[in-house]
Amino acid sequence: MRRFPVFLFVLSLAFLLGLHSIGDVEGASGYAGIDMCKGCHETYYDSYASSTHAKKAISGSPANREACESCHGPGSSHVEKGGGKGTGMFTFGKKISTKEKASKCLACHEESKHLAFWSMSKHKSAGVSCDNCHSIHTGGEKNLKAAQSILCLGCHKDIKAQTNKQSHHPIKEGRVSCSDCHDPHGEFGNKMVKADSVNELCYKCHADKRGPFMWEHPPVEENCLNCHDVHGSNHSKLLTKRPPYLCQSCHGSHGTSAYYSDHTMPMPPDGSINSSANKLVSRSCLNCHSNIHGGNGPHGANRGQFFVR
Ligand code: HEC
Ligand code: HEC
Ligand code: HEC
Ligand code: HEC
Ligand code: HEC
Ligand code: HEC
Ligand code: HEC
Ligand code: HEC
Ligand code: HEC
Ligand code: HEC
Repeated sequence: MRRFPVFLFVLSLAFLLGLHSIGDVEGASGYAGIDMCKGCHETYYDSYASSTHAKKAISGSPANREACESCHGPGSSHVEKGGGKGTGMFTFGKKISTKEKASKCLACHEESKHLAFWSMSKHKSAGVSCDNCHSIHTGGEKNLKAAQSILCLGCHKDIKAQTNKQSHHPIKEGRVSCSDCHDPHGEFGNKMVKADSVNELCYKCHADKRGPFMWEHPPVEENCLNCHDVHGSNHSKLLTKRPPYLCQSCHGSHGTSAYYSDHTMPMPPDGSINSSANKLVSRSCLNCHSNIHGGNGPHGANRGQFFVR
């Protein structure tokens, strides 16, 4: 009921301005319409035309709004002047503030669930804008300017160095992408990670590490990153340190041999616990404690409690 007078008001305003139809956006408020842009900006026209934004079938898309001018603002004065720079078009150039650029996109995307945490994201506060990652005119998947391993690592050089280390998540191999683990638009959790905790994130792909275990290893339950780096490491299996040093950072600070002599039980059967063969060779502590993420065997014969198989 309350809308009716507003509609009448708009109608009479449109009439006063000499417009023929208010249903047709062209001409209203200085919009020139997409047909005017095509001839002079063929490349931009083509890239737009092949993007999701140009789909008439998607309600709320620019195609159903002001097309080019949904993002670049009204263009009739630009057209009248025969085009050119600095004739009032909105650009995504370097001099325009991040906030202003993002606001063009958020006008439509504010409600999108992907952007629910944008306003509190580190990218927003660091001055990264939508168009640093997306370009409507390059046509990639999700309008991304490049594959993530190039796009994200172009700014995150420290992470790039890590992903080149000997042991790494297969990011550059294309089997895992940054956005499998992070939401670049922000997340409620730490470091824009797509889960409530680091462990919940890891369990998504490494479900076997969730357990339940009869004998838990407390640092595993607490945080996988107690022992693993996530992007890359110079030690095998993404370990932060090589065993025995990794283990000894928590289990006693004395040297390896001193530690071994702390073992109270006779093992292995030949009683060679202190033989150098068991100390540093091969898998070190893991020679025996191979179920390091948790044991399920009963205490006794197979020593589940001590993560010994
Ligand atoms: C008569 C030709 C012509 C028409 C019509 C035209 N443009 Fe342009 N436009 C230009 C030229 C020339 C430039 C300057 C390009 C350059 O120097 O790289 C330009 C620049 C732009 C810029 C950058 C402005 C700046 O300040 O840097 C945008 C955005 C733009 N046009 C969008 C549009 C849109 C949207 C339409 C349709 C509503 C349109 N143009 C219609 C010729 C035209
Ligand atoms: C969904 C928003 C959106 C729509 C719709 C859109 N553009 Fe753009 N346009 C951008 C963004 C973002 C950039 C800057 C990123 C880049 O260079 O790819 C840009 C860049 C441009 C530029 C270079 C000047 C500048 O702003 O950096 C021109 C010219 C242009 N667009 C013309 C057009 C024309 C013509 C259409 C319609 C056929 C159109 N655009 C539709 C978002 C849009
Ligand atoms: C006039 C409204 C409107 C504007 C302005 C707009 N978008 Fe969109 N955009 C949509 C709609 C509608 C969709 C399709 C539904 C969806 O994915 O939310 C879409 C889809 C997308 C997609 C997914 C594309 C795909 O192929 O899956 C990206 C990325 C995107 N927009 C980024 C942007 C960016 C960046 C800007 C600003 C430069 C922008 N949009 C401006 C309405 C808009
Ligand atoms: C740091 C890079 C980055 C920034 C900044 C960024 N995005 Fe994205 N965006 C991405 C990536 C990567 C994806 C693809 C995610 C995926 O495939 O899971 C994406 C996907 C999207 C989608 C599609 C979601 C879907 O799955 O359909 C929309 C819409 C979108 N972004 C809009 C925006 C808007 C609007 C802004 C600015 C407010 C923005 N993005 C800023 C990297 C970014
Ligand atoms: C397998 C999951 C995973 C993948 C894939 C991944 N990350 Fe991470 N990333 C994490 C976790 C977990 C953290 C640390 C969270 C914490 O400290 O609580 C993190 C932290 C970060 C940080 C913050 C570092 C710091 O020291 O503050 C950045 C930046 C980052 N990642 C960027 C990236 C980029 C860029 C990619 C893609 C090249 C990527 N990540 C791929 C899981 C991942
Ligand atoms: C234009 C440069 C740029 C691009 C592209 C970029 N980032 Fe960032 N990113 C930053 C800046 C700046 C920060 C804030 C400072 C920092 O922590 O390094 C940041 C922070 C982060 C953080 C840490 C967040 C936190 O809470 O501490 C993560 C994770 C991250 N980016 C992931 C990504 C992912 C994933 C991509 C690709 C989809 C990406 N970034 C693309 C510039 C960029
Ligand atoms: C999106 C899925 C995904 C997530 C989330 C994930 N990983 Fe992985 N992870 C993989 C894949 C894929 C491999 C490679 C497996 C292979 O090569 O067979 C891998 C391998 C590993 C490896 C062995 C590396 C090596 O050198 O053999 C470790 C350790 C690991 N991940 C730990 C983690 C930790 C810790 C987390 C949580 C911070 C995590 N992963 C989260 C997919 C994931
Ligand atoms: C106490 C240290 C420690 C913690 C904490 C830890 N790991 Fe490990 N993880 C290791 C060691 C040591 C290896 C190497 C085992 C081997 O070579 O047999 C390993 C290997 C792995 C591997 C590759 C081999 C395999 O068993 O699949 C994955 C995946 C993995 N860990 C995931 C996780 C996840 C997920 C978490 C958190 C739930 C986690 N780790 C917590 C010590 C740890
Ligand atoms: C971040 C610290 C930390 C790291 C690293 C760590 N542990 Fe543990 N571990 C613990 C804690 C805490 C317990 C619980 C019992 C305790 O307090 O000693 C435990 C328990 C154990 C137990 C069972 C002890 C018992 O009495 O039930 C064994 C066996 C064990 N760890 C072996 C290892 C091995 C082997 C490594 C290296 C691959 C390792 N741990 C790395 C903290 C750690
Ligand atoms: C030759 C096999 C073997 C090797 C190698 C080994 N362990 Fe053990 N460890 C055992 C067995 C078996 C037990 C159970 C002891 C018991 O039943 O009293 C045990 C018990 C433990 C315990 C719990 C009891 C205690 O003494 O505190 C810890 C912690 C432990 N080992 C850590 C380590 C670390 C750290 C290393 C590497 C520096 C290591 N172990 C190397 C076989 C081994």
